[in-house]
Amino acid sequence: MIDLTGYVALVTGSSRGIGAACAVRLAEAGADIILNYCTSRSAADQVAEQIQALGRRVAVVKADVSERDDIESLIDFIEERFGRLDIIVSNAASGGFRSMMSITPQNFVGTMKTNVLALIQLVQVASKLLEKSPGRAKVIGLSSHGAAMAVPMYGSVGGSKAALESFARHLALELGDRGINVNIVRAGLVATDSTSKLPYADMMFEGRKWRSMTGDRFVEKEDVANAVLFLASPLSDMVQGETLTVDCGAQVHV
Ligand SMILES: NC(=O)c1ccc[n+]([C@@H]2O[C@H](COP(=O)([O-])OP(=O)(O)OC[C@H]3O[C@@H](n4cnc5c(N)ncnc54)[C@H](OP(=O)(O)O)[C@@H]3O)[C@@H](O)[C@H]2O)c1
Repeated sequence: MIDLTGYVALVTGSSRGIGAACAVRLAEAGADIILNYCTSRSAADQVAEQIQALGRRVAVVKADVSERDDIESLIDFIEERFGRLDIIVSNAASGGFRSMMSITPQNFVGTMKTNVLALIQLVQVASKLLEKSPGRAKVIGLSSHGAAMAVPMYGSVGGSKAALESFARHLALELGDRGINVNIVRAGLVATDSTSKLPYADMMFEGRKWRSMTGDRFVEKEDVANAVLFLASPLSDMVQGETLTVDCGAQVHV
């Protein structure tokens, strides 16, 4: 039912993890894909091979999304190579795991630049292209439980996700009349490279078992990608400024 044939989608931080799963899912639905990485070139190339095998056009672009110049080069490249951009999945994130007492101004600024400012700058730089999308263009950010809950050693990233959700609502307000939807997927705990380094990872994954309201089935990166696919498709044209949670119901369980 979802057919994105002819659409062009950029997924930031798509060399691995949830970003890679989103890129593959969008390609399976027919979209051509721009994969973005910062350091993991060979991993990004492997994702590109998967997408090529689906018969889609794919490009792999190195860009640090915390840097305005890199974002401008990335969007220029997309305009030149693909001539259009319909979907942005702002997935890349960093920040590390640290106590609130150890956050330095440098950590704070670095985390906010990658996790929050990137979405704003991507939209600022790409808005003219997005506006030309024949349907409604879709911008989707990735958030986490840390936006609204206290997670051990996660204050820096969690705070950035709360800001991200707010900025998405404000962008939706400004861009709705220009044919652009901005929404967020708030994912529960998913096994990826980043969560393997999470302090108390065993406890957190164990905790999923009793808080899940979907039996013994837990959120995988593909489940997050399914929600992104919905928000990237015309089926979500009337969903605007929203945060969609994909977490087995964990956040509403006492
Ligand atoms: N895993 C979870 O449980 C979970 C839960 C909720 C939300 N999320 C969110 O989902 C998203 C993906 O998480 P993940 O667990 O899949 O992460 P991950 O496995 O650590 O992958 C992070 C990706 O972001 C890229 N990246 C990091 N900094 C970048 C930068 N400055 N510029 C461009 N790319 C950059 C990395 O690229 P390189 O490898 O090339 O450097 C990599 O592709 C994040 O926004 C995260 O906060 C994750």
